[in-house]
Amino acid sequence: MINNFITDQKAKLTVEGKTYEFPVIIGSEGEKAIDIRSLRQETGYITLDTGFMNTGSCGSEITFLEGSNGILNYRGYTIEDLAENCSFVEVAYLLLHDNLPTQAELDHFKMLLSRFALIHEDLIHFFDHFPPNASPMAILSSMVNSLSNFYPEMTENPLENIDKNAARLISKVRTIAACTYKKSLGSPLVYPRHDLSYCGNFLNMMFDSPVKPYKVNKEVVAALNKILILHADHEQNCSTSTVRLVGSARVNLYASISAGISALWGPLHGGANQAVIEMLEAIYNEDGNYNKYIERAKDPNDPFRLVGFGHRVYKNYDPRAKIIKKACDEVLAILKTSDPLLDIAKELEEVALNDDYFIKRNLYPNVDFYSGIVYRAIGIPTNMFTVMFALGRLPGWIAHWKEMWDDPNWRIGRPRQVYVGPKKRPFVPVEERG
Ligand code: ACO
Repeated sequence: MINNFITDQKAKLTVEGKTYEFPVIIGSEGEKAIDIRSLRQETGYITLDTGFMNTGSCGSEITFLEGSNGILNYRGYTIEDLAENCSFVEVAYLLLHDNLPTQAELDHFKMLLSRFALIHEDLIHFFDHFPPNASPMAILSSMVNSLSNFYPEMTENPLENIDKNAARLISKVRTIAACTYKKSLGSPLVYPRHDLSYCGNFLNMMFDSPVKPYKVNKEVVAALNKILILHADHEQNCSTSTVRLVGSARVNLYASISAGISALWGPLHGGANQAVIEMLEAIYNEDGNYNKYIERAKDPNDPFRLVGFGHRVYKNYDPRAKIIKKACDEVLAILKTSDPLLDIAKELEEVALNDDYFIKRNLYPNVDFYSGIVYRAIGIPTNMFTVMFALGRLPGWIAHWKEMWDDPNWRIGRPRQVYVGPKKRPFVPVEERG
């Protein structure tokens, strides 16, 4: 609870000749904040912080991120330890419940995930009414929103049913994602199976066919677990803040998550993983010549950005990118395949990391730079990459929604603004307007 972290230190603000004192908060990993919750009431001023570069919207016990040293911890565990030793389901449990599960807790959670894996048959008809080539993100967001009508008990007792609804959502989103893909191919849907793991089930629903059975490969399952763990939470990013903001109006979990999926869709956020592969493919089709792309990225008059580089918070190598880069090599070796895009990506990284433009601006590869190459290797089509991100981020979104709902400091999210439009002026009837 954030109020427990208020210290005796004070920050002073002098405005219009009067000095005010505001409490200083120091978080459990030493992050410093000035508590300005009483600022407007005491001084009449608000703060202006476009893009929320300096604004903490809440206290949170879920994820610690330290961008200048490339640290990312979920509930105190490093991302490196979790990616190396856990399944995605264990990490999902950790995010939702504060602690890693005991064996009994894990078994129970897996049982819930199996129990809720099917989607209502009426939902399957939804797929028939999207236009051909509909974006899988639009389908996912709409379908998740509609779940609120199928499971209305969530609206009545949100926290009482949260474990059940979290498992339901995590399990069903996986099924919806795989069905979206099958429908886009016009192939028969593959139903989930109780004998398969969370990730094994997903791969089977994506790639099994009545005419060509799919064999779940345990190394591919391990790679998918790792990649989903790396995406599972990232504190107050754009989509998570969206889930919290929408949920702060006391909107049900499904509708809040649907809004988060829409936010994730953006090419500056989760949509970047798809854009990276499209950029690497374009370079490959132009004989691998990436110099033009580097030059365009550096040109202040060109809006082009080297996709997969830069991050609002990491001003050092993104720790997730390090792990995924290694996973790329491992997966390609296991599948005894190579990908020319990986070679281009590594060369591009090398050139960018030694270029003054990127060095000065602390632009390093982010999580999206290599994730698409792993997805390609395991057969996920490019237009499903952002859906994969959503699958991974889901436990984080739910954990934040739950934390926000339960927070005694909760208020509806409502930023202020500085009005800079015309001053009050007289109304002019239409016939007198010139
Ligand atoms: N390529 C070239 N230049 C870049 C890039 C890039 N990828 N990213 C930032 N810059 C430059 C900017 O032009 C700016 O230069 P200037 O100071 O000369 O004007 C400087 O670096 C700072 O950039 P900002 O836009 O202020 O950084 P911000 O923190 O607002 O943006 C963002 C972060 C959106 C991720 C940005 O780096 C970007 O657009 N990257 C490409 C898209 C991408 O990979 N997004 C995925 C992010 S990870 C995620 O969401 C999971």
